[in-house]
Amino acid sequence: MNKITAAITAVGTYVPDYVLTNKILETLVDTNDEWITSRTGIKERRILKDDTKGTSYLAIKAAQDLIAKANIDPIEIDLIIMATATPDMLVASTGAYVATEIGATNAFAYDLQSACSSFLFGMSTAAAYIESGRYKKILLIGADKMSSIVDYTDRTTCIIFGDGAGAALFEPNYEGLGLQDEFLKTDGEGRNFLKMNAGGSLLPASEQTVANNQHNIIQDGKTVFKHAVTYMADACEQIMKRNNLTNEDVAWLIPHQANKRIVDATANRMNLEDSKVLMNIERYGNTTSATLPLVLGDFEHLFKKGDTLIFAAFGGGFSWGSIYLKWAYNKK
Ligand code: UT7
Repeated sequence: MNKITAAITAVGTYVPDYVLTNKILETLVDTNDEWITSRTGIKERRILKDDTKGTSYLAIKAAQDLIAKANIDPIEIDLIIMATATPDMLVASTGAYVATEIGATNAFAYDLQSACSSFLFGMSTAAAYIESGRYKKILLIGADKMSSIVDYTDRTTCIIFGDGAGAALFEPNYEGLGLQDEFLKTDGEGRNFLKMNAGGSLLPASEQTVANNQHNIIQDGKTVFKHAVTYMADACEQIMKRNNLTNEDVAWLIPHQANKRIVDATANRMNLEDSKVLMNIERYGNTTSATLPLVLGDFEHLFKKGDTLIFAAFGGGFSWGSIYLKWAYNKK
C-alpha cells in the first residue's frame, strides 16, 4: 500500500452578518479610513453581535457549512480539533461542545491554542494523526470571537480584529497529495508583546483586574510587526528551499491575514507574483484562528488538484511557521 498522506478534502466557513466598517470605527476612536486602509489593508470586519453566543456558535456554523457541502455524515468524524484563542470558557473544551452540537457523536474533541498560529499548528496535529493511520476523518476548525476580548476604545487593536470561523476536513490520501512538509516555531520571549493580561492562572479575574481593564487583548504593534515580517518570510523561504520549490512551483500563498504589509513582505521574499497571494483581509480583518480556513473557503474554486499551496502564519507567543501542502481535489 502507498504511504498515507493527510489531505484536505473539504472546507466550510462562517462569518457573522454585522459589518463593522472603518467609517463606523471613526465614530468610536480617533482614526480614519485612509490610515487603516494604508497601514493594514482592512476595510471592514464581521462582528458577532449576540452577547449570548460565544466562539462555539461560529465554529458550529462553519462545521455545518462543511458537512452540508461535502455531504458527510457527522457520525463518521473521528476527531475534532478546535483551534481558538477565545474558547467559550476556560476548563470545559469548546471543541467537545461543538462536536456534540453538530452530531459528531463518535468523535472526541479538544481545543488547541497558539494565538494566530492555532490553525496552522492544528494542521500539523491533524496530519500527524491521519499519517499514523489511527483516524480517518478529522475536522479542524479555526474560530475566534475576537470582539469578546477587544477594547473598542483602543485604536491600536480595535481596527485590526474581527470574528469568524472556518473548517477543513483531513482524510488519508494514497496519491501523495496533502501535507508535504512543515516548518513550525515558537519563542516564549515574545509573550509580553501580544497578550491578554488577566483571566488566566497567572492573574485570575478580580475586581482589580476588571477595574484595570486587563481582560482585553493588548499588543505592542511595532514589535509584533517587526517579528512577523521577518519570521513569516523566513519560514516560507525555509520551506521552499528544503523542498526545492521555486516561485514558479508555488501556485498559491495562503497567508495569515494580520496586516497586508506583512503578507506583501512575505510574498516579496518568496518572489511571488501578486496574483498568487490570496487575501481577504479587506473584508474580515484579522480573525486570528479563522484567517487560513476563511482564505481556503473564499478561494477554493481556484485550486486545482495537485496545486502547491504554502500556508504561513505569525502570532502571539510568539508562534509562527509555514506548511507546504498539495491540494487534493477540484471543486465540483
Ligand atoms: O495576528 C498577528 C499579530 N498581529 C499583527 O501581526 C499586527 C502587527 N502590527 C501591525 O499590524 C501594525 O503595527 C499596526 C497596524 C498595529 C500599527 O501600524 P504601524 O504602522 O506599526 O503604526 P505605529 O504603531 O507605528 O503608529 C504610527 C502612528 C502613531 O502616531 P505618531 O506617533 O507617528 O504620531 C500612532 O499613534 O499612527 C498612530 N496610530 C493611529 N492613527 C490612526 C496608531 N493607531 C492608529 C489608528 N488610527 N488606528
